[in-house]
Amino acid sequence: MKVTVVGAGAVGASCAEYIAIKNFASEVVLLDIKEGFAEGKAMDLMQTASLNGFDTKITGVTDDYSKTANSDVCVITSGIPRKPGMTREELIGINAGIVKTVSSNLIENSPNTIIIVVSNPMDTMTYLVHKTTGLPKNRIIGMGGALDSARFKYRLAEALEAPISDVDGMVIGGHSDTGMVPLINKATRNSVNVSEFLSEERMQQVVEDTKVGGATLTKLLGTSAWYAPGAAVSGMVQAIACDTKKIFPCSALLEGEYGLNDLAIGVPCVLGANGIEKIVNISLNDAEKAKLSESAEGVKKTNGLLEL
Ligand code: 2OP
Repeated sequence: MKVTVVGAGAVGASCAEYIAIKNFASEVVLLDIKEGFAEGKAMDLMQTASLNGFDTKITGVTDDYSKTANSDVCVITSGIPRKPGMTREELIGINAGIVKTVSSNLIENSPNTIIIVVSNPMDTMTYLVHKTTGLPKNRIIGMGGALDSARFKYRLAEALEAPISDVDGMVIGGHSDTGMVPLINKATRNSVNVSEFLSEERMQQVVEDTKVGGATLTKLLGTSAWYAPGAAVSGMVQAIACDTKKIFPCSALLEGEYGLNDLAIGVPCVLGANGIEKIVNISLNDAEKAKLSESAEGVKKTNGLLEL
């Protein structure tokens, strides 16, 4: 399995690191436009190989897409990250141009690749890749739900005073401060609904803290987060590499699923060797349906800013 990660900033380097540490890929190519930057990150990461016990070969390249040829999976992290006080949607102008160029360069060199989009606004960037590349819909996947669900589980464990391995929960909808739909009524602690342990007020606090998970970190760090985004991507790449058929909430192109059309938004998907192998239709209550459709309206509004 050959994986390319475009963008050797904090998110891209974390993706490369977590993919390598999990030791399922033979090769990771890290590409950046800044001269020598990806080469430096790759060399530093390779010098952790004997310490962390992985055999994945990480190579850094400066803007040379020929080195990415025949990648099975390509991850796009390039573009500018948000600064404190900014929404992900405000990044659209600069990032749309970058994502369009990057995806076209990647496909030229790896026509059979599966693309994972991380750049923000992620759902809109995923839609842009669908609209501009013509790849089949199973081969374009937006990373947001896996990250937002990890943040949801972190907040659930905190509220429940439980180990994270004891909790389960999923976030669907758009990857934005207002668009995320943490499915609190379906969240469990060791298969028991969390409403058995938490008050309605505390559950709503978990939901609100989850939705602003990225913004909270951006305020603390002065830029957007990287460890959890990198780990979320590595989990998705591993599901594809190892054909695990695990369910991840991913931004997928919808054509009638959940009553939605012509947008990419977070819904539960089975990931395997073919990318999105199935969009899973789970039953939602009326409140969850209303939140998902409100989220979809927000994503469509941002999509409307694209020059297609
Ligand atoms: C985040 O939420 C990078 O959008 C990403 O941290």
